[in-house]
Amino acid sequence: YRDLRVALLGCGSVGAQVARLILEHGDELAARAGARLTLAGIAVRAIDAPRDVDLPRDLFTTDAERLVQGADIVIELMGGIEPAKSLILQALQGGADVVTANKALIAAHGPELAEAAEQVGAQLSYEAAVAAAIPILRPLRESLAGDHITRVLGIVNGSTNYILDRMDRFGDSAEDAARLASELGYLEADPTLDVEGYDAAQKATILASIAFHTEVPVDAVYREGITKITAAQIDAAKHAGYVIKLLAIAERITSADGTDGVSARVYPALIERDHPLAVVYGGKNAVFVEAEAAGELMFYGAGAGGAETASAVLGDLVSAARRHVVGGPGIPGSLHAELPILPVSEVSTAY
Ligand code: NDP
Ligand code: HSE
Repeated sequence: YRDLRVALLGCGSVGAQVARLILEHGDELAARAGARLTLAGIAVRAIDAPRDVDLPRDLFTTDAERLVQGADIVIELMGGIEPAKSLILQALQGGADVVTANKALIAAHGPELAEAAEQVGAQLSYEAAVAAAIPILRPLRESLAGDHITRVLGIVNGSTNYILDRMDRFGDSAEDAARLASELGYLEADPTLDVEGYDAAQKATILASIAFHTEVPVDAVYREGITKITAAQIDAAKHAGYVIKLLAIAERITSADGTDGVSARVYPALIERDHPLAVVYGGKNAVFVEAEAAGELMFYGAGAGGAETASAVLGDLVSAARRHVVGGPGIPGSLHAELPILPVSEVSTAY
């Protein structure tokens, strides 16, 4: 296999899991990508900080700029705008492909970064930035490219869904539920982004921009968070047959004067308890897509969490690596003899 150097920026909830999976599944990833993915280093702020995963100490550096130099693929999992943005631009200008889960950055500077990638023929991918493990951006951008999407809506923030769910089903206080969400690695470094709805608004921006082929600035998204929701309101909703969920909605609308446009908004909404969104529990997310020809589609899965998000990051990593291998085994749709086929007698028919 050809060797590709992977630079990892950040080793927190997500980065530590990405590093673990690259090291543990090296052979499998090489077979899928058609290239060996060598973890060249991991940039952090504090080399001696405790990590979720036991990783070789000599991989760590505080010199992110140097690590990016000479990398074939850069994975940015630091979060925030700077220095993430400058490092991504540096990586792209050096010809590296970039994978990121940073929705704050993509929502604020996605077009500029995409243009920088386009100029040098590099790939910028960010599937993990919206709804973590759920594949939603690629289906919107590729599988539905020939359809006419009319609406995208759903629960796109795992931590606030977890908090509201703990308050609703277990009677937790908002503070206790937020502490548990933090322990699970669901919250942003600045939890205000989650509870005030900024994170969901960033995701709404990204979803709307891709679904409606237009640039939707994050400050055009109407936003309300969950901080004003009280236990009494959750209880009253429950007695009336509803559950409160933080929704993100982006849709095509026609204004009163007949202008066609896009509306995007994030707010806590009352959902009837027999609606499919009502049973999206814990840190799970669900996104409904409505399209003219396809009709209704529903995407469901983990919306936050280190390993769950790492799954989407690795998908983008394999996709980026495949671009470096012309005619290799990593062409999408090709099959490798990874596993033998076992007879039906080996499986239980119980489901
Ligand atoms: P964490 O806060 O857990 O980790 C951030 C990591 O980046 C830390 O290792 C930190 O180093 C490092 N870092 C931060 N700033 C710098 C800097 N200036 N120089 C070098 N290293 C730096 O974040 P998460 O892993 O939770 O999230 C990472 C990204 O993924 C974010 O953009 C987030 O929005 C996104 N995301 C997160 C999800 C989740 O469930 N957690 C889900 C989907 C997306 P040190 O450890 O030394 O402090
Ligand atoms: N803080 C985010 C959330 C992480 O709770 O959904 C996943 O993007």
